[in-house]
Amino acid sequence: MKIGTDLGKAKALLEEGKLVAIPTETVYGLAANALNEDAVLRIFKAKNRPTFDPLIIHAASLEQVRPLLRDVPSLAERLFNHFAPGPLTILLPRTHQIPDLVTAGLGTVALRIPRHPLTLELLKTLDFPLAAPSANPFGYVSPTRPDHVAAQLEEQVSYILDGGPAEVGLESTIVQITSEDKMHVLRKGGLPIENLEALGPVKVFQHSTSNPRAPGMLKSHYAPRKPLKLGYLDELLAGHPNQRVGVLAFKRTIPEIPAAQQRILSPEGDLAEAARNLFAAIRSLDTLDIDLILAEWVPEKGLGRAINDRLRRASAE
Ligand code: TXA
Ligand code: MG
Repeated sequence: MKIGTDLGKAKALLEEGKLVAIPTETVYGLAANALNEDAVLRIFKAKNRPTFDPLIIHAASLEQVRPLLRDVPSLAERLFNHFAPGPLTILLPRTHQIPDLVTAGLGTVALRIPRHPLTLELLKTLDFPLAAPSANPFGYVSPTRPDHVAAQLEEQVSYILDGGPAEVGLESTIVQITSEDKMHVLRKGGLPIENLEALGPVKVFQHSTSNPRAPGMLKSHYAPRKPLKLGYLDELLAGHPNQRVGVLAFKRTIPEIPAAQQRILSPEGDLAEAARNLFAAIRSLDTLDIDLILAEWVPEKGLGRAINDRLRRASAE
């Protein structure tokens, strides 16, 4: 069986340099031993990911990886104390024990302490961190359930550790700490910016292909195969009268569209529920016999900011 909850098997495979899909609270990761360059190369090949796009390393605690870091700013310590384990990734100066392939040659490594109990248990028993991007082919929507991983990468992974559906459903928030102890958010994600602001000033960067700060944060990312148009549903529907459309709505249903072609992110209008459902909803609309997906904005606050960011990128051509 390729899918299961056998931690011993996952550990043994990772120690051999194999790829294992791991559950996290954000999305499923495609994991390998971060200190084994051959294993890390397998990740890039399996995802068809360009090697200029650096990976996040995952550990059970900051202490576990401290010897691999050159320095841990006090603000990073405070952030991890507050939010780890959780959907927060921090860029930290690294030593050369971490292969260049992991960081695309950058002087920093992205570190995250994920919150899923199975994966935390696994990380505690390993004597190396796990490099893990989201477990999807490069450019596609991230997986939030084990069957999403199996649908696209079953051949490429040795094992899928089944941790059920992801609790948060959006990738981690990525933070860079400046020399003036300011937080720069390079990717909006599962930890709302409002939570970070409790610890100091935050500046949010809109990323694009031309943003050299975050080499992998391409604008067109998280994209379904079907075209996705983003805006106000009434206008979008009026603008595509003769096409077979799928609808991705925040909380309401559209009476004129068949129910099977609609996905409602949260009937109650709850942003955490909407985040949990977002990627599975996009994936399932993408499998329908339709011409395009029409999606609406959610409220631009809390997790809604990251949801809108993913929708914007899914709609980029
Ligand atoms: O929630 C998550 O973060 C998930 C789970 C599996 O942990 N991982 C994830 O990884 O979303 P990935 O590879 O899909 O996205 C990581 C992003 C990339 O866009 C990459 O460019 C950026 O992090 N990144 C990694 N290291 C970096 C660095 N040293 N400097 C700037 N950006 C970096
Ligand atoms: Mg990804």
